[in-house]
Amino acid sequence: MLSRPKIPVFQPSMPAFDDYVQRLKCVWESKMVSNFATNCQEMEQLAINYLGVKHVIGVASGDLGLMAVISSLDIPEGSEAIVPSFTFNSTANVLMWNKLRPVFADIDKKNLCIDPASVAKLITRKTKLIVATHVFGNPCNIAELERMANNYRLKLVFDAAHGYGSEYRGVKVGNFGEAEVFSFSGTKLVTSAEGGLIATNNDELAQRIRYTRNYGFLEDYNSKFLGLNGKISELNAAMGCLTLPEIDIEVAKRNKWAEKYREGLKGIGDIGFQVVNKNNKSTYKDFCIMTSRRDELYNFLDQEGIMTKKYFYPIHKMDYYKKKSFKLSVTELVGDQSLCLPIFGTITKEQIQRVIDSIKVFFER
Ligand SMILES: Cc1ncc(COP(=O)(O)O)c(C=O)c1O
Repeated sequence: MLSRPKIPVFQPSMPAFDDYVQRLKCVWESKMVSNFATNCQEMEQLAINYLGVKHVIGVASGDLGLMAVISSLDIPEGSEAIVPSFTFNSTANVLMWNKLRPVFADIDKKNLCIDPASVAKLITRKTKLIVATHVFGNPCNIAELERMANNYRLKLVFDAAHGYGSEYRGVKVGNFGEAEVFSFSGTKLVTSAEGGLIATNNDELAQRIRYTRNYGFLEDYNSKFLGLNGKISELNAAMGCLTLPEIDIEVAKRNKWAEKYREGLKGIGDIGFQVVNKNNKSTYKDFCIMTSRRDELYNFLDQEGIMTKKYFYPIHKMDYYKKKSFKLSVTELVGDQSLCLPIFGTITKEQIQRVIDSIKVFFER
């Protein structure tokens, strides 16, 4: 029997090659391959219009975007920053680079985002910052986090790496906290191969971030602040200019596929789903199920030619971070049970059905 083609867990949506070549031709002719030339400016403007936010700042990656934001907040060294552990490690790495102490909070077992009740228990006199992730594009409980940040005078930053196209109570993610940081790396819904955008409504912070992402200076080569090279290249921004306008189409497709998965997998084994509040919109950067037989299912699907992802690996359990002991019962359970299924704009109905059928076979054996 011929083996069936593998189903990847993810495939980026690529712009038309000729359109990209056309843009590259302009870059070549202009000889401006970096330094915030036309493509970077256009990508930023596209996001300003889409998000309805005052400032958008292009960066080389989501990771460097988070670095630039945290560094620009000027939080005293040694301060505590509350973060989820169920996120990508960039969220905590940038705290370490900025000499802040990550204090890991647990997640809500429904939406899989940082649990405000857990955050509340961790606030001390040393706490200065909360960094919350919109996990898999599902917006966090923003109102509650904002309330706490206001009450305790904490800075609030969102890791919105998965959230370009997400909505919280009808407002685009990108409009909340001090700043939100998007990623457009190759695994995101729309991509610039590598790249990121920082969104903020705070004029002063925006200006400071512009310095930080450009080595610490603007025109005069005189560093005003500690900076880094966070510039996005024109080659990346050119790709971003072509893919960003596709975001709503991508989000709509993924919401449709997510619904298919939910219908098809309802009541199968002990499968649980991430809950998206009906007033919010997720990008479904990943479609995550949870089961106590996660590792077995992962191996079974792999043999069936279906790629899945055990994701996230909780940060507090990573070798580098596990020196301090944190007890995060929901994070640990979800970290052991979460499995992201194939989802991408161009996945077919047949492929989704094949995934569902294979999971059914697994649980009915
Ligand atoms: C939640 C989260 N934050 C930050 C990042 C880092 O973004 P980038 O890969 O663009 O540096 C990622 C990357 O996937 C991520 O998933």
